[in-house]
Amino acid sequence: MTSTPAATPAATAPLPVSSRGCPVLHGESFAANSPRVYRQLREQGPAGWAEIAPGVHALVVTGRRAALDMLNDPATYAKDARLWADLNEGKIPQDSPVLPLMAWRPSALYADGEVHARLRRVLDDCIARISPHRLREVTRRGALTLVAAVAERGEADMMSDFADTLPLLVFADLLGCTSEMATRMVEVCQVLISASPDAAQAAVDFAGLLFELIHLRRAQPGEDLTSWMLGHDAGLTDEEVLHQLYLTVGAGVIPTAAWVGWALHLLLRDDSYAGTLAAGTVSVRRALEKALWVRSPMANF
Ligand code: HEM
Repeated sequence: MTSTPAATPAATAPLPVSSRGCPVLHGESFAANSPRVYRQLREQGPAGWAEIAPGVHALVVTGRRAALDMLNDPATYAKDARLWADLNEGKIPQDSPVLPLMAWRPSALYADGEVHARLRRVLDDCIARISPHRLREVTRRGALTLVAAVAERGEADMMSDFADTLPLLVFADLLGCTSEMATRMVEVCQVLISASPDAAQAAVDFAGLLFELIHLRRAQPGEDLTSWMLGHDAGLTDEEVLHQLYLTVGAGVIPTAAWVGWALHLLLRDDSYAGTLAAGTVSVRRALEKALWVRSPMANF
């Protein structure tokens, strides 16, 4: 018996909808059908309701104009997650994987106006002090360590064994971790990133580790983000420093890992990049640029 090639089931199967009849922006079906789910979402207009995690609904903005209007109007669209009605009314599961990122913390991410400006100035000033030379060296060293481990094993999961871990190694160094703390930081943050049921405990462990680090760097300041934030003239409390560090790592690792992952995918799997890889860094640069165009490191936020 012969048959003509049919569309794959994933391309035709009905998409799941949430208990409120909204598109579902999480889980296996979303991973397999994301372009179709985004189309379904866009059919609602420049903003539409979606389920972003089990039992968690959000109004997702998909139109550029609407996004600009929203981002430029913090008085109407405040980032203060303490105003989140569903959370205040107990409608969000306490163990929801979105809470480590979306529940309020005293960091720039959840602030507007002057409060945001103060915290953001500290972030900008301290990040600007990182020397590109040191960043390059730390990244190179981290990459070589990970590649050596892969070479020894003979196989690798490109995300967990390389792309997810490299930014963590770099941040551990930039934050001023001792090598023992760096090992612990990589471990807890890997669990955090996985959004597994252990993520909530990992968030607590990570905050505990940052607390230790702040104490260490108060006593022994060094050339690192933690010491610079503690010494900044904005006069942040230890708790504020902790949350700006948490934000920096939280916001910095996941998009960077996704970007590295897609660029590597192009370099290793796409002949037009892999073919010239041995010729030097040009194709690496091109692959990084192409990855930004075709696979945004952050599809939605
Ligand atoms: C390809 C890489 C990256 C992408 C695509 C990306 C994307 C984003 C997006 C979309 C936001 C939200 C902006 C908003 O709320 O208006 C954001 C915020 C932020 N990101 Fe990134 N990011 C990347 C890398 C990084 C890195 C490496 C760091 C740290 C060194 C970082 C630190 C932050 C911080 C601190 C915020 C909060 C800023 C604020 O609220 O004022 N990001 N990022």
